[in-house]
Amino acid sequence: VEIEVAAAEWELTGHQHYMYKEMLEQPDKAAAVIRGRLDERFATARLNGLNLSPKELRAFRRVKILGCGSAYYVGQIGAQLIEDLARIPADAEAASEFRYRNPIIEPETLYVVVSQSGETADTAFAVSEIKRKGGTVVAVVNAVGSTIAREVHGGIYLHAGPEIAVASTKALTNMAIAFAMLALHMGRLRDLSVADGERILHALKRIPEQIQQVLDNEPAIAEVAKALAQAQNAFYIGRVRQYPVAREGAQKLKEISYVHAEAYPTSELKHGPLALIDESMITVAIVPDDDLTERNVGAVQQVLARGGQVVALSHESVDLQGLDVERIDVPKSEPELDPILMVIPTQLLAYHAALTLGYDIDKPRNLAKSVTVE
Ligand code: G6P
Repeated sequence: VEIEVAAAEWELTGHQHYMYKEMLEQPDKAAAVIRGRLDERFATARLNGLNLSPKELRAFRRVKILGCGSAYYVGQIGAQLIEDLARIPADAEAASEFRYRNPIIEPETLYVVVSQSGETADTAFAVSEIKRKGGTVVAVVNAVGSTIAREVHGGIYLHAGPEIAVASTKALTNMAIAFAMLALHMGRLRDLSVADGERILHALKRIPEQIQQVLDNEPAIAEVAKALAQAQNAFYIGRVRQYPVAREGAQKLKEISYVHAEAYPTSELKHGPLALIDESMITVAIVPDDDLTERNVGAVQQVLARGGQVVALSHESVDLQGLDVERIDVPKSEPELDPILMVIPTQLLAYHAALTLGYDIDKPRNLAKSVTVE
């Protein structure tokens, strides 16, 4: 039976595309990355694979995250989670840039590389460079026994199963969840309270069913995607925690539907890109229910006032003040975890835009699933 299950992981099992199959697997795979890793008693996450003692983990004064493509954008989500929950300065950088700039490797920095395949050359090189200079590097990785998994001090496996489509979906979602657990773990070793630990832990447990709720909304999202497919250009905007989601969403649209899309922090709109807004421009605006909702609604108004079309990725509780937008509501989690769920509709938007346009979704032109050459 086990062999049959393993084989099914590699097959399309009746779906038209691997990307679609892999999107649908997300609730199960999200449950798999969480399974056995939540510790109710101490309101924390258990991450034994890191091979780092509490004492070692407490000694780090910075966290630096490295990855390429979607993994880099998830790294930005991860950095924000670590700053939010553990209050340790954290940032993410493209591994492809890091390796070429004689990076400063500090003994008090924890380096975290992120990779689905574990074989991306730029990311693997960053690992070697960090190790050569005596740094501590762990990995958030999907492929068991891959080059990166073998080279690092320890890590968190994603348990997402094989991912075939070039556009990453389930691996990416599990990366974000893995970072939430790392942030919870590091936070509870420092000053994150029991109450906040419990708040995050219980929200994490609900993520798989909430992903399913987004997937259940597919028909409405597919309808909105038809407009994106007709666009020449699109903006994806989000603020602070949601800015990496905007970057990932824009990247997906470009990768598989070839519609030109750019991501901006919502706050930067007025500092330049607003000049490009007219009737032909679609803006996908992320408008979560948080302390910045009013400002985000204000930005949507500005886009509408200039004749632009808006797709709002929002929460049900947000009052969009009757504005003329295409609205897609996503289930609400805790504010720190909301980006994990906000990514899901951006996958469906890109998928259905590409489907409408009739492109080869699993194998977009000029791209490889894993870039193992320099
Ligand atoms: C390639 C793929 C991207 C992927 C990136 C990182 O550029 O086209 O979709 O995000 O590599 O891959 P990794 O296997 O390291 O996560």
